[in-house]
Amino acid sequence: MDPSLTAFETLNAIQKQILELKKEKTAIILGHNYQRKEVQEISDFLGDSYGLSVQASKTDAKIIVFCGVDFMAESAKILNPQKIVLHPNLKAKCPMAAMVDVRSLKELKAAHPGAPVVSYVNTSADVKAESDICCTSANAVKIVQSLPNKKIIFVPDTNLGLYVQRFVKDKEIILWPGYCPTHVNIKLEDLKALKRKHPEAEILVHPECTPDVVDFADFAFSTEGIIKHVVSSPKKEFIIGTEANMLHRLRKEAPGKILYGVPNATCPNMREISLEDVRDSLVKMQHKIELPPDIIKRAKIPLERMIAAGR
Ligand code: 13P
Ligand code: SF4
Repeated sequence: MDPSLTAFETLNAIQKQILELKKEKTAIILGHNYQRKEVQEISDFLGDSYGLSVQASKTDAKIIVFCGVDFMAESAKILNPQKIVLHPNLKAKCPMAAMVDVRSLKELKAAHPGAPVVSYVNTSADVKAESDICCTSANAVKIVQSLPNKKIIFVPDTNLGLYVQRFVKDKEIILWPGYCPTHVNIKLEDLKALKRKHPEAEILVHPECTPDVVDFADFAFSTEGIIKHVVSSPKKEFIIGTEANMLHRLRKEAPGKILYGVPNATCPNMREISLEDVRDSLVKMQHKIELPPDIIKRAKIPLERMIAAGR
């Protein structure tokens, strides 16, 4: 590629079309760190679930195009009920978020009266509406630690709940049997084999990984935490135990580092969104996130508490 080309000139025709449409319609494109490389390239802001929620809560844009999975676009709508939130491809759904529903959560609450519900942001809007506070992987420990209660209901990710439990030995965390199909696919044997091959490499994983994987890793962070660590660490080599598309942003922001991906770490749901979907969403103003006003009102409370807690 000609190094004299500007960033805009290196984009393909659809990407340029998207940038023009975005300007014309005063839209902002928020993209999760697991998006395809070409979608990352046209995003105004890339981040983890926490960072994207913060951006969604403070944008002046009239339209938010959310390149991520369903619960992320829903959160943007809950935080901005007056704005148009477009989700470019409705097939981009997080299977873990679908693992807990309101009826089961109400049953769990009835079985543990008085225990507050901390719901991972990877939940539907109606589950959030039944929760006391939301969290992301970036602040789950901090949020659980901040609660005065001894007993806490944590839904839906068992592995994140077990990760939090390591830091709050004085509390009893009531877990729910949800999990991330992508992160449970990251296997200890694969990490061990990579470590044998690259003994100098530091292992970074997402806390949605299973406890044996978290134990073997040097650190567990949210996706943004992994990026910050790689950029600021004096170390040179890293094994990245999370969705493989993270490597695009990491290679761009930490060009001097040597990065090794792990096998089978792909989230097909996050990869559903194509450039054509993003373009069509702006041309046809599709697919608008619509939620019942009552759900928005109730779900906004735990989401705003999550943002206020910080990272
Ligand atoms: P982050 O909040 O760390 O970006 O994680 C979101 C997610 O879906 C991880 O699988
Ligand atoms: Fe959901 Fe897992 Fe995909 Fe994240 S990686 S969006 S938790 S399925």
